[in-house]
Parts: sequence; structure tokens; C-alpha cells
Amino acid sequence: MNEKPVIVVVGPGAMGEAIIAGLLREKLTDADKLLAAGPIVERGEELQKRYGIQPYYDNVSAVKQADVVILSIKPQNLDSVMTEIGSHVPAHALVLSIVAGATIEMITQGLEHECVVRAMPNTPAQIGQGIAAWTASPQVSKAQREQARSILQALGEELYMKEERYLDMATALSGSGPAYAFLFMESMIDAGVHMGFQRRDAEKLVIQTLRGSVEYYASKNAHPATLRNEVTSPAGTSAEAIYYLEKAGFRTAISRAIWAAFKRSRSLGAGKKSQPPADKD
Ligand SMILES: NC(=O)c1ccc[n+]([C@@H]2O[C@H](COP(=O)([O-])OP(=O)(O)OC[C@H]3O[C@@H](n4cnc5c(N)ncnc54)[C@H](OP(=O)(O)O)[C@@H]3O)[C@@H](O)[C@H]2O)c1
Repeated sequence: MNEKPVIVVVGPGAMGEAIIAGLLREKLTDADKLLAAGPIVERGEELQKRYGIQPYYDNVSAVKQADVVILSIKPQNLDSVMTEIGSHVPAHALVLSIVAGATIEMITQGLEHECVVRAMPNTPAQIGQGIAAWTASPQVSKAQREQARSILQALGEELYMKEERYLDMATALSGSGPAYAFLFMESMIDAGVHMGFQRRDAEKLVIQTLRGSVEYYASKNAHPATLRNEVTSPAGTSAEAIYYLEKAGFRTAISRAIWAAFKRSRSLGAGKKSQPPADKD
């Protein structure tokens, strides 16, 4: 594509802004071709000031001009936004949705538009370090797929899935994944404070321990258990800590938590948006 596309971000919140920043950083379009459509004037003005993009307070006028429509509204706003913009999305446009739990079928039906990519990014996208799993409806052309890939690469890494069912799994693993990582970090920092560290010192020790462990693992072609065994000497401190983690069901808790998130994502996709999850066994 020679001419830069007009990209409309409907729902310019946290993820919408991450996308805007990434698109401009990677020069996938120009600021005057990047339209942010949302209800709040202050937010539009803030984004215009920060990125030079074009704010719109009326979704329809923005979407009418689009080569690519990015849906980054909250799931509870999806139905009303689709009803509002459905008949105005240009036939040639690619629709890329990051709305959690919204299936391709829901979007193609809601917009009466067949070219749809569904993606599940995560919050590190805000610093270009995310990972997005994605899939596309069969009507998305090869060129549009590459366009979707470039857009998602502007947020970090991307992983194409041939089947949509993997999107619910990715929602549970990588979409919600940062929440598990933050909880783990918080627990370690609190344990450090409990022993007597100043909080800022505990934070520094924990952040670099996790960052270093991730980089070390990524640099080695080894199973995590091998790297764990390296630091677990007989009757040592790591062995003692791991004994307690296993005894507390750490591994099972992680496994069951991710499975529960997966089930929740599937039920959201089945349209059970407002119902709280039923069985908490
Ligand atoms: N955050 C994540 O880690 C993450 C990861 C993967 C996927 N997602 C998905 O990304 C989507 C956005 O999440 P977020 O965290 O960026 O939420 P957010 O910060 O609340 O952003 C949503 C934006 O949509 C705007 N909005 C509300 N009603 C609208 C309407 N009728 N038309 C256009 N814009 C409207 C909101 O404006 P107001 O603030 O004024 O209401 C807000 O700017 C969600 O569907 C979520 O499932 C998020």
C-alpha cells in the first residue's frame, strides 16, 4: 500500500492510546490520517496535543473515512457502537477489534461487515512490549492480514492463530497474564517488606530479579525447570521456599486460575456479559 491508510480508533482509552502511539512510532500512518473517535472532548484534545492526531466526537463521521477501523471500546459499549456505526463502515475497510470476548461472528453480524480481525493484546503494549494473539475472518485479504500484522507489531509481538478458539486461551494466558505477574511481584515485594526491607529496595530487588530471569530464560534454550534446578541446591534456601510453594498448591492455583479465566472468556463470547461467573469451585 503506497498511500498511508486512514485509521480510525473508536474508543481512545488506555489501549486506544497505546495503538495510536505505536502506529505513529512505526510510521504506519500519518497523524492527519489517524482519527480518534470517543465521547469526551477533553480526552480528544489531550490526544491531539500529545500526538497531533484528529479527534472526533461523532463515531460515524470518523468511521466513514476509514480504511481501517480499530474497535477499542469496552465490551459493554460494543453493541451500541456497532449499531451506531454499522452501516457507515466503508465496504473496503478492515475492522480490527481488541474487545475482550467479542467473537468474529458477533462483530460481523453487529456491523454487517465481513472483513474482521480479532486480536487480544495486553497492557505492556503501552510501552511497545506487548504480545497480541490474533485471527482473521476468511474475507480478510492477504494484504489486509499483513496490514493487521503490522498494526499489532506496533504494540510489541504478535502471534497469528488459524482458529479463533485460541483467542479465548490467549485471553486467559497473555491477555490477563500481566495481572498474574503483577500479583506475583506484589507478593514478593510485600514479603521483602515483611522481612524488613525498605519498600523501594524490595521493589528494586524484585523488578530486576524478574526482568533478569525473563531475559535469562529467553537467552537459554532450556526448560524452566532446568534453570530452576540450577538455583536449587540440596537442603538450600530455594529448595526450602519451593517446598512451601508446592505445599501451598502454587502450581495448581496458577493452572486453575488460568483455566477459570479461559472459561470466563468463553462465556463472554457466548454473550453472557453481565452475568457473574456461576461456579467457583
Ligand atoms: N487493558 C488491557 O489490558 C486490554 C487487553 C486486551 C484487550 N483489551 C480490550 O481493549 C478494550 C479497551 O480497553 P481499555 O483498557 O483501553 O479501556 P478504556 O481505557 O476504558 O477505553 C475505552 C475508551 O472507549 C471510550 N468510549 C466509551 N464509549 C464510547 C463510545 N460510545 N464511542 C467511542 N468511544 C467510547 C471511553 O471513553 P470514556 O473514558 O470517556 O468512557 C474510553 O476512552 C476493551 O474492550 C478491552 O477488553 C484491553
